[in-house]
Formats: sequence, C-alpha cells, structure tokens
Amino acid sequence: MFEALPQQPGDEIIALMQAFRADPRETKLDLGVGVYRDAHGNTPVMGAIKEAERRLWQSETTKTYVGLAGDPEFADAMRRLILNDAVSADHVTGAATTGGTAAFRAGLEMIQLAAPDAQIWISAPTWPNHPSIISYLNMPMSEYRYFDPETGGVDFDGMMTDLSNAAPGDVVLLHGCCHNPTGANLNASQWQDVAEIMRTKRLIPFIDLAYQGFGNGLDADAYGVRHLAKTMPEMIIAASCSKNFGVYRDRVGALLLVSQDTGVQGVARDTAAFLNRQAYSFPPDHGARLVTMVLNDPNLRAQWQAELSDIRDGLSLLRTELAHALRQRTGSDRFGFLAEHRGMFSRLGATRAQVDEMREVHGIYMVGDSRMNIAGLNTSTVPLLADAIVAAGV
Ligand code: LMR
Repeated sequence: MFEALPQQPGDEIIALMQAFRADPRETKLDLGVGVYRDAHGNTPVMGAIKEAERRLWQSETTKTYVGLAGDPEFADAMRRLILNDAVSADHVTGAATTGGTAAFRAGLEMIQLAAPDAQIWISAPTWPNHPSIISYLNMPMSEYRYFDPETGGVDFDGMMTDLSNAAPGDVVLLHGCCHNPTGANLNASQWQDVAEIMRTKRLIPFIDLAYQGFGNGLDADAYGVRHLAKTMPEMIIAASCSKNFGVYRDRVGALLLVSQDTGVQGVARDTAAFLNRQAYSFPPDHGARLVTMVLNDPNLRAQWQAELSDIRDGLSLLRTELAHALRQRTGSDRFGFLAEHRGMFSRLGATRAQVDEMREVHGIYMVGDSRMNIAGLNTSTVPLLADAIVAAGV
C-alpha cells in the first residue's frame, strides 16, 4: 500500500531548518524558522515557565486525562490575555489544542461543518502552512492583497478593494499582530476600517494570533482582535503560546470562539470538543498548565511579562541597527521599513537568486521569499548581514 502514497510537497521552512543544521560553516547565520534566539543564539526556557515547571513537578499528583477541551482554567486565562474585557466571558468558548496550528485547523473544520461553501480569504502572502492546510481540507480559498513590496508596508487600498469582493459569509484570515512573513502590520485606524468592511459585508474574521507580545506589547498587539470582538457578531481565534511563552515543543494553543449571541455558545463548545476528539482525543496538558500558572500567579506573570518585554525590546533594537547599517551602506532610506516592522519577521524584498547567493556565499539562511527572522541576529552579526545584502545587490 505504501508504494501508492503520493509524494507530498515539502515544507520550505522545515527544509531550510534542516539545510542549516547540515551546513558545516561556523559563520553560518540562521534567519529561517520562527524561533526566538537570544544574543548567544540560544532559545532558553523562560524563567517564569521554568519556575512553573518546578512547582508543577512538586504538586502534580496525577497525569490522568483532563477533558476534551482541556482545562477550562487555561481557556479562561487565554481569553483574558487575548480579549481582556472586550467581551464578557459568556460570549466566548475556548478549548485547548495541540499548538496554534491545531487550533487553526479546528477552526477551519468548524467552518467546513457550518458553512462548507465559505471562501477562506488569506493575505498575500501569508504563513505557507495556512494555504497548505486549507488546500488539504479542500476548502475554497482566495487571496487578498496585503503587502506592498515597494514600500515594505501594507497595501491597504489593495486589501480593502479585495475584501470588498468577498461574499457574505466568507471568512477572512487575519494575523492578529506581527504578520508572518512580512512584518508589516495594520495600524489602529486600519483595523477599524477592516472591521467596518467586514461588518457591512457580513464577513467572518478568523484571527491567527501567534506572536502576542512580540510587537508593541501584550495589549497593543491585541488591539485588532479586541476591536473585532467588540464589533463583529462572530469571530474565530487560533492562538499559539509557542513563541510568547517559549513552549514550542510542548504544543500549547487555544481555539476561541466569540459570538454576540450567547445562545450559540453551547454548540460551539461541544463542536470544539468533538473536533479535538476526532483529531487526537485529549489535548496535551503540561504546557497549557504551565501557561495557566504563569498567567494566574501575579509574581510569575510579572516575571514573564518582563522577559517578554526584553525579547520585544531586543527585536526592536536589532531592527533599528539593521536599518541603520543599511542606511550607512546604501546612502538611502529604502530599508527604513525594517525598523517599522514588528514581530519576529521582516520580508527584505530580495529575489530568490539573491536569497540563494546570500546562503551559498555568506551562509545566511533566510526563507526563499526573503523572510528574515530578526531574532536570528545579534549586534555583531547585523553588519555581516548588511554587507551581504549590499553585496547581493538587493
Ligand atoms: C515559522 O513561520 O517559521 C514558524 O511559525 C514555524 C513553523 O512551523 O513554520
């Protein structure tokens, strides 16, 4: 039977991660996969998570199953982190999932059950696994313009024009903050305009929130999602804790379903539990419990927030340094957008050939669309990258 298996397309980001590991050059620089790295290139366990883990090790007395939707305390803590008081608790159902990707997939499956003909509108570009999963589920998909390669910012007019072509009931996938792969984000007034067009056209927002706290702060990064929660009748949120709690391999995510009509919350909750049951039965608990402990304990929370701000400030500093280094070398401000972008990534605007050259000649690994993980840099590698960018003629 196995010989009949069709070959599946490889994932470019994962392939790049493997190619980097196999490269023997000591001077190589990994700007590929979206994993935070400190100035020494390490991805440490956050102090608050480590302390929660110590406490959990001491206090946990059983590892029996929790529930199909995970611990309700986790979902509630995630609701408060993401939505704060934008809507009250009885308007939100939450379920734990295995990472944000499983939450994204469960959200799609929920759409498939309720509205199989709805188009899923994705930003051009978006995280490559978005279209991959949507296609795998055979769901109708369209793109809306999002990135303007000339300015390095959002092509907002293009986005609004394309969204105006969506049909009532279509679903619009939006990155809550820190857009992956471009780094270009909507400002508050643009979020309001997007909400308004979605409200009048009766579109359903589906938010992928994987980097809350990496942009401008925990609350600032949730502006869009909170505004939509206040103004839209319904919304789906797929949240990931991989990056902002650094629990990548523990697979911690949450699916949140927001509705103005509290009467539909029961069926939404049951469906989220049903979808988990069909996919993997019970979601993992360990990482979700650590996140809950950190969010609900004032000291651990303060420690985590301080660690997260250090990460955020470090990213902003690297962005400023890179933009400055490129300004010095090119005598122009055409890379100024790198300092304006937020989150882990920026799309540089290099061609595939230039990306290949930087990898082959300088050992600099970035995704083929020229997405760079800014966290892969440190103060001493910024000039090396700037030199390589100029040498490749970007
Ligand atoms: C990324 O975009 O690099 C990360 O979200 C990791 C992944 O799974 O692709």
